[in-house]
Amino acid sequence: MSPKKQQSGPSYNQLEAGAERAKPGLHQHATEIQPYGKIAKLPIALDEKVCAKSAENLNQLLADTMTLRDMYKKHHWQVAGSTFYQLHLLFDKHHGEQDELVDGIAERIQLLGGISLAMAADVAETTLVPRPPRGREEVPVQISRLLEAHEIILKEARAMARQAGEAGDDGTNDLLVSDVIRSNELQVWFLAEHLVDVPLLHAGEAKGASAGR
Ligand SMILES: [Fe+2]
Repeated sequence: MSPKKQQSGPSYNQLEAGAERAKPGLHQHATEIQPYGKIAKLPIALDEKVCAKSAENLNQLLADTMTLRDMYKKHHWQVAGSTFYQLHLLFDKHHGEQDELVDGIAERIQLLGGISLAMAADVAETTLVPRPPRGREEVPVQISRLLEAHEIILKEARAMARQAGEAGDDGTNDLLVSDVIRSNELQVWFLAEHLVDVPLLHAGEAKGASAGR
C-alpha cells in the first residue's frame, strides 16, 4: 500500500490574503468623473451644443418638477377638512405621476450626456417654484399653490419644447409635449375644479346668487 498522499491546500498566508480581499473597501473618495454642467457626449447623432442646451433646460424643469412632486406629498399628509379622504388620495396619485416624470426627465438628461440634479439642497437652490411654509394650510391655499407650480412648469416646458424641436432634439420635444405638458394640464383640470364655488346641497344658493331679487 502506498502512503497516503497529503493534499496541499492554501498556506496560512494565502488564507489571510484571501480574507483581506473579501473585506469591503470603505470610505473611498476620488474626484468626480464628470463635473456638473459638462457633457459626456454619447453617439446619438445630436450636436454637443444641442445636448448641452437641452440638458440645461431639463435640469431647470427637473428641479421644478421635483418641488411640485414633493409639494403634493406635503399636501397629501397635511390636508384637512370634509374633503380629506378624496384629496388625500388625489394628491398622492398626482405625486406618483410627477415622480414618473422626474425619472423620465432625469434619465433624458443623462442620455444627452449631461448630469441630472438629484439632491434636495441642489433642487432648492434651482427651483423657480415658491417655497411653501412648513406649517399646515387650508385646502384652497394648498390647491392654489399647486396650480401656481403647475403653471410655472407648463410655461417653461412649452418654451423648452419649441426650442428642442427647432434644434432637432425631437426626443426632448416629445418627452416635454407627450409626457410633461399633457400630464400637467390634466392635473391642473383635476385641481382647479375643486376651487369652483358650487352649492353642495341647495341649487342656486351660491354667494351673490340672490343679489337683485
Ligand atoms: Fe400616504
